Amino acid sequence: MKVSHSNKPVKSHTIVPCYEEEINTEIISQQTGFKKISDFKGESGELYSLIHPETAKKIILIGLGKKSKNEHCGQAIRKAVFFNLKLDGALTIYAEHLDAKTLEHAAYGAALAFYNVNLYKESKEEKKLEEVKIITSLKGAADVIKRGTVMAGSTSNAMNLINLPSNIKTPYYIADYAVKSGKTHGYSTKVFKGNELLKQNLHAVYAVGKGSENPPAFIIMEYKPKKITANTKKIGLIGKGISFDTGGISIKSSTNMHYLKCDMAGGATVIAMMELAAQLKFDQHIIGIVPTAENSVGGASYRPGDVLKSYSGKHIEVIDTDAEGRLVLADALAYMVKNYKTDTIIDLATLTGSCVATLGYFAAGMFTHNDQLAASLYESGLSTGDKVWRLPLWDEYKPYMNSDIADIKNLSSVPVAGATTAAKFLEVFTNKHEAWVHLDIAGVSFTDSELYKSRTASGYGIKLLTDFLTK
Ligand code: BES
Ligand code: ZN
Ligand code: ZN
Repeated sequence: MKVSHSNKPVKSHTIVPCYEEEINTEIISQQTGFKKISDFKGESGELYSLIHPETAKKIILIGLGKKSKNEHCGQAIRKAVFFNLKLDGALTIYAEHLDAKTLEHAAYGAALAFYNVNLYKESKEEKKLEEVKIITSLKGAADVIKRGTVMAGSTSNAMNLINLPSNIKTPYYIADYAVKSGKTHGYSTKVFKGNELLKQNLHAVYAVGKGSENPPAFIIMEYKPKKITANTKKIGLIGKGISFDTGGISIKSSTNMHYLKCDMAGGATVIAMMELAAQLKFDQHIIGIVPTAENSVGGASYRPGDVLKSYSGKHIEVIDTDAEGRLVLADALAYMVKNYKTDTIIDLATLTGSCVATLGYFAAGMFTHNDQLAASLYESGLSTGDKVWRLPLWDEYKPYMNSDIADIKNLSSVPVAGATTAAKFLEVFTNKHEAWVHLDIAGVSFTDSELYKSRTASGYGIKLLTDFLTK
């Protein structure tokens, strides 16, 4: 992405992002060649195209809404670039009036527009657009734009993994991806595969994966900043990596089951965060763990009623094999707590339909006992658009997970507050860690959008965690 400065009208096809408050200002009339744009209000999501009377190039006005809400800029620019990929030559984003944060969102959105989901189409739509230029006089703009485009790169990689079909992205495929990504970007990776999981006491991950022809894996990634001092914070990130969730023996109904290829979105997000940490040289020491398995139906599948040993030593009674995410996370959380003394642990998981029923598609459920972390993540959510909303983690919900035969069961006795009871299950494996946050991303990871015909990966969580870790 090229960056340049100019106060003159741009001579190529141009995107002009507009705040509601700034419609019909000098900037806009200079760039569009029109004194007054009557039908366009600059509301968030608005897109309005016209032809510049002198240059005869396309001018695309996009609405950003109110000036205080800069997080809309990324999605608006992404949409505008995406729907104009067939334009010849260069597309310029006129950004003289955007501040640094908004500019970062703009660069992120413009770069993300080049991601396409159509991997398996014989004839691809022709894209003629050769380059995107950004016009800005902002000091340090090149760094801001680089940050936005690097984030878009890792987000595209994560979205690609999530959108890949499950016959391709087996647990080993995901593990191999992490190994390659580590080598490319500069973080280390260790993988336990198949029967090795049993030797490592990762019995719960093994059990979830054992009904599938595609064996499970446990991916451990580590990024170390150049300088590690006594003050360097150690962060643990954990992502659910179910490559496909049939529900297992407690099989799901087939309507919309194909969407369950997204059940490794948390894992993909954690891998993307490792890539970003290495590329943007985060200050923290970061450990990423992705337990990955295919929850499949077969003669070797684990069953309802089975009792599983877990990494923590606690035994789990399986009531429902479709509540598999919490089982693989139980091992991952216990492994993180025991082997890496991290200051903070954040897990991301497409964990419950209950969370989707509660919050819909616009916010992840956040569960934590730590008010400070909750406040910080909430702020990061608002400023990036990757919103989180806190839900209860009170002990009143705990007895619902009590088992007669084992230490805990994987399904609540009552069909209420499913996202919270899942979080209460996870809590047991955190060894009372004081800075643990669970994010239920089931509603936000794989969503409808204006860009595609059906649900696709949203890239949720990467902007959120990047902001949280770098602010
Ligand atoms: N992966 C699902 C949750 C999910 C649902 C993710 C929809 C994305 C979209 C999870 O493993 C699951 O099946 N959860 C069950 C839990 C139940 C059996 C306690 C659910 O939410 O129905
Ligand atoms: Zn499930
Ligand atoms: Zn699942």
